[in-house]
Amino acid sequence: MCGRLAGTGKIKHVAHILDGNKVRDQILEECQPRIQRILAAAGRAPGLAVVLVGADPASQVYVRNKTRTAEGLGIYGETITPDASITTEELLRLVRALNMRPEIDGILVQLPLPAHIDSRQVLNAIAPEKDVDGFHPVNVGLLSIGAPGLRPCTPSGVIEILKRHQIPIAGRNAVVVGRSNIVGKPMAMLLLEENATVTVCHSRTADLAAVCRTADILVAAIGKPAAIRAEHIRPGAVVIDVGINAVTDRAKAELLGPAKLAAFDKRGTVLVGDVHPMDMAELASAYTPVPGGVGPLTIALLMRNTIEATERRLGLC
Ligand code: GUN
Repeated sequence: MCGRLAGTGKIKHVAHILDGNKVRDQILEECQPRIQRILAAAGRAPGLAVVLVGADPASQVYVRNKTRTAEGLGIYGETITPDASITTEELLRLVRALNMRPEIDGILVQLPLPAHIDSRQVLNAIAPEKDVDGFHPVNVGLLSIGAPGLRPCTPSGVIEILKRHQIPIAGRNAVVVGRSNIVGKPMAMLLLEENATVTVCHSRTADLAAVCRTADILVAAIGKPAAIRAEHIRPGAVVIDVGINAVTDRAKAELLGPAKLAAFDKRGTVLVGDVHPMDMAELASAYTPVPGGVGPLTIALLMRNTIEATERRLGLC
């Protein structure tokens, strides 16, 4: 998008901001009638159990937001908060007990788990039909063969943002930076499912910037503040910034431009994505801001997955 720069006669590039809050609200709105239908059919609400091990403050905030959103929608939410000293065996028993409870349709174990716990064993213990994160190997496998199953929330949110802004995916070159099991790999699979030509980059990619510049759709999910710069962005590309990083050092905030610096000076901290905000705004045709882009979608998709898990368990779909 372009606009005339006031008084100069010059055309100024104005990127389209992809509003994650708006898409979240739409998705949550669509959840309402489905919850009503479940209530009418089963006489109970969908049930979501969230397991938060230990007292990591960031995880506490994420989990509170998840259960609050659930309760706001009329989903039954239960948070279980074992001490950080819990063993893998004890956590496995807890998960298996949740698997057995008929009124619990979705189980989420908040990550990261303490280092002494075998996270993969815990995630594998969640019943696949209750795995609302989509991290169980059965659901990963279903995604990879394009069969119905529970899909990971954050990458599904990215697809929703693109589709609901009428951004074409089929036939486009999509580059995903990051290969995590939570975002990068499932993101690549979902883009492939939408018929994009997909490249996955990572820490060992040779000439990352050159590969990124082939992208019509560039998805950054590396967890490094403002690491994706102008040289990575083809002018006119759609840029999806999945990163949420807190910058607590003023000198670093200063490098992010005046808006981020002003926010930092107000609160002593500022959030930035994996993409440099000024480079992204200058070069992209459309982009997700941080905060307010992909972030709000993760919880909305968790709600939708919980409803989907309930409908499947009740035979309603
Ligand atoms: N920690 C950060 N993101 C996630 C997520 O999507 N699911 C879970 N379970 N933990 C997380």
